[in-house]
Amino acid sequence: MDTKNIVTAKAHANIAIIKYWGKLDEVKKTPLNSSISLTLDKFYTITSIERNQKLSKDFFYLNDELQNDNETSKISKILDYFRHPDEKVIVRSHNSMPTAAGLSSSSSGYAALVLCANKSFNCNKSRSELSYIARLGSGSACRSLYSPVAIWKCDIDEHKAIAYPLQCNIKLAMIIIILNKNKKEVLSRDGMRHCVETSTIFNKWVTTANDDAAKMVSLLQTNDFKAIGELMERNTLLMHETTLHANPPFSYLNSDTHACLEYIRKIRQDGFETYFTMDAGPNVKLLCRESEVHIIYKKLLEKYDESNLVMSHLVEEDYD
Ligand code: DP6
Repeated sequence: MDTKNIVTAKAHANIAIIKYWGKLDEVKKTPLNSSISLTLDKFYTITSIERNQKLSKDFFYLNDELQNDNETSKISKILDYFRHPDEKVIVRSHNSMPTAAGLSSSSSGYAALVLCANKSFNCNKSRSELSYIARLGSGSACRSLYSPVAIWKCDIDEHKAIAYPLQCNIKLAMIIIILNKNKKEVLSRDGMRHCVETSTIFNKWVTTANDDAAKMVSLLQTNDFKAIGELMERNTLLMHETTLHANPPFSYLNSDTHACLEYIRKIRQDGFETYFTMDAGPNVKLLCRESEVHIIYKKLLEKYDESNLVMSHLVEEDYD
């Protein structure tokens, strides 16, 4: 194998503290609301692209498993932004976290893919171009091109949205409580579409989420951790409420999630200041001040096994 033709890139997953939930345009993945996220160091994808003129089609391996035509075609479409369509490749991706369990593997997956393709095909595309192409794979991936804090800001009148890094001084960290490693039953894409189409509170969600994003921007500037955490929780719970008001209703959360939230509220009363958020799956992510993350992690060990807890700091370095 000619190793000169293999290039590698790494990108980190992000977890939203104000959620992206709902699209105006399914193809361009234009969101209906602005979202804000933290880019986590422990959750990432490493992707390599092998260029080989002998290939007559693309191959895509995820965690060493050859993917079917449907999954491979999603990757091929993204590669077409970088290459001559006749040029076929082998893409190998490894996730540091369970795939499709609501741990945001698609955000790091598409971010790593565009970074790798940019290098492999010597394209020199800008960060914002890469962010836009990553978003065509999965909306939330556009935020993974920026760290430690990213905003995907939506201009609903212009039908446009753009991701960029948010400057703030507050030092944050997250602890992920893995309650379930299995693939989710309802993919975020399908759940989101179902809520846009049928949830009776969807208009309320869109208005509130856009207000929440604006508020979060100012809270991140003022270092008000309590207000940041409370706003994140309210935003999370309203997003999950949209699923309960869909027709038919559904939920990403299970009894373990609800027991966990009860526990978090309890330890908060005991002085462990941490706030929860959940995405399209039952797992819980806790927001902590960076200075307190070790104390909170230790407290959680009283209830959860070490193998189900991941402490993650935010990514500080740039990808270039
Ligand atoms: C609940 O980015 O996975 O995690 O654009 O359809 O690929 P598609 O959706 P995706 O949705 C993520 C939704 C979320 C909230 C968030 O990350 O903002």
